[in-house]
Amino acid sequence: MCGIVGYCGPRQARDIIIEGLTRLEYRGYDSAGLAVVADNTLYWDKKSGKLANLCADLEAHPLPPSTQGIGHTRWATHGAPTDANAHPHVSSDGRVAVVHNGIIENFASLRAELIAEGVTFTSDTDTEVAAHLLGQEVAAGASLAVAMQHVASRLTGAFTLVAVNAGEPDVVVAARRNSPLVVGLGKGENFLASDVAAFIEHTRDALELGQDQVVTITSDSVTITDFDGNPSEGRPYHVDWDLSAAEKQGYDWFMRKEIFEQPKAVADTLLGRWTDRGDLVLDEVRISPEELRRINKIVIVACGSAFYAGMVAKYAIEHWTRVACEVELASEFRYRDPIIDPMTLVITISQSGETADTLMAIRHAREQGARVIAICNTNGATIPRESDAAIYTHAGPEIGVASTKGFLTQVVACYLLGLYLAQVRGMKYGDEIRSLLDELETMPDKIQKVLDGIEPVYELAREMAKDEDAVFFLGRHVGYPVALEGALKLKEIAYLHAEGFAAGELKHGAIAVIEEGTPVFVVVPPQGRDQLHDKVVSNIEEIRARGARTIVLAEEGDTAVEAFADTLFTLPRCSTLLQPLVAAVPLQAFACELATAKGHDVDQPRNLAKSVTVE
Ligand code: F6R
Repeated sequence: MCGIVGYCGPRQARDIIIEGLTRLEYRGYDSAGLAVVADNTLYWDKKSGKLANLCADLEAHPLPPSTQGIGHTRWATHGAPTDANAHPHVSSDGRVAVVHNGIIENFASLRAELIAEGVTFTSDTDTEVAAHLLGQEVAAGASLAVAMQHVASRLTGAFTLVAVNAGEPDVVVAARRNSPLVVGLGKGENFLASDVAAFIEHTRDALELGQDQVVTITSDSVTITDFDGNPSEGRPYHVDWDLSAAEKQGYDWFMRKEIFEQPKAVADTLLGRWTDRGDLVLDEVRISPEELRRINKIVIVACGSAFYAGMVAKYAIEHWTRVACEVELASEFRYRDPIIDPMTLVITISQSGETADTLMAIRHAREQGARVIAICNTNGATIPRESDAAIYTHAGPEIGVASTKGFLTQVVACYLLGLYLAQVRGMKYGDEIRSLLDELETMPDKIQKVLDGIEPVYELAREMAKDEDAVFFLGRHVGYPVALEGALKLKEIAYLHAEGFAAGELKHGAIAVIEEGTPVFVVVPPQGRDQLHDKVVSNIEEIRARGARTIVLAEEGDTAVEAFADTLFTLPRCSTLLQPLVAAVPLQAFACELATAKGHDVDQPRNLAKSVTVE
């Protein structure tokens, strides 16, 4: 949510910043802007709409050469996506420019204070207060770094601020609280960004910043302090993926590329997780097996697709551990005063590791004494850092706004954690665990098999793009969250009315929406080995009797469903609990192809941004 770049080095800042913003545009695409410093003067440009608008304007009105600058791509919070509200925001004297990600919660009182002092505001944003406050400090003689310390201390809420001062050549200063910021360590050049993707082409060495830190970069130095100016440190790390992972590599969309990366992503999530002694390898462990033995309740908190991964996890974890497991939307969790205590294990799932709702939920959980394990795809992000342990999914960067490999690998990590808990608590032992792991290890090939046969799914999507405006999804047990996920994909990128239902629940009301020709996808559990199979087949009969067009996802060799399926897609055989790993894939591909056929921007759907860093 909002992408930020800063650069100091020998190269043209404009080029580095535009390149970085291109890789961060998935974080927001309502407007874009940049500011550079040349000859003791600040120059800036900003435009509403996608980055391309800014680039066109820069072609028409080039900025002077500069080797120091900042840039921003916006997901609007305060103020409509207009040129005036685009970042950077600049102090009244035109000397300091700042870009911001997050929400400054006390901006109204600060704005009133500044207006009373005679400052004129030119935008509706919360960010502009930071520009004026920094400008005042610098005009009074403070360095930009000290100004940033003072200003950051006065702000409440979530922010990453990155600023330049016309009077300080080769310096870019940033501050962070509750919002992402990483430093890229180059040779004779340094970078600041919301995400390493912005600078991965130039360096894979990064510094992760802590909470409430101010960082000053020059071409050859990085200095970190806290908000009081005391020296502080970041955590160095090496990014284990390269530029190709952040590029489309011939695919039309990142989303499609990421769908096709899933066999590898799932294999990478599983890789090296289980020791020869049969223990799960957790990352950043600050929790002991004894503590995991003592817990008497599990609560999973997450948002969106990650929440649906949590719903899948509930079935597996309760089945394997016999510990009660709740799944809760992170945005609802702390506001209902949940009953949690030191005997509660909170599992938090977040691809980005920066989702504000999820972060606030785990902070609340920890304040009540609960232990927290994070499942996350982003090394060193705030959520795993503030948890007692983490399982990184190692899916590589997910750039398409709609989660695909993020979701699938979260489900895999949940299975691993569930098995580990079952083992630690004495519910499952060596051979049993080994056979479940063996089955998990067959899943990448099965996902690949689904992808190899995806063309009929695409054909259906292209056909349905012509005239469908509502699609329904049904599933039971772990098929239910898969149905919800299928509907979410279609809503977010194809802008279709799509709803997922528990198949058994439909007859309690929602079946009234079914009419002649209504398309309904149904995820069918494995035949024979699962008691729910026949129930779901009956549910298909019920909707078919009311005219629904049934699109059925069932295991290969399922003889019972054929008669009831207007369209049948087969899935490789696997046990019920693992079926989401193959069943979700055709639904992702269907949404991607249908949105493409409708002419939508699949990677940058309207109104959305990846990594939602505001509550
Ligand atoms: C849907 C989607 C979102 C995210 C949600 C949580 O395709 O991507 O629903 O799943 O915003 O994001 P993370 O996992 O980053 O916390």
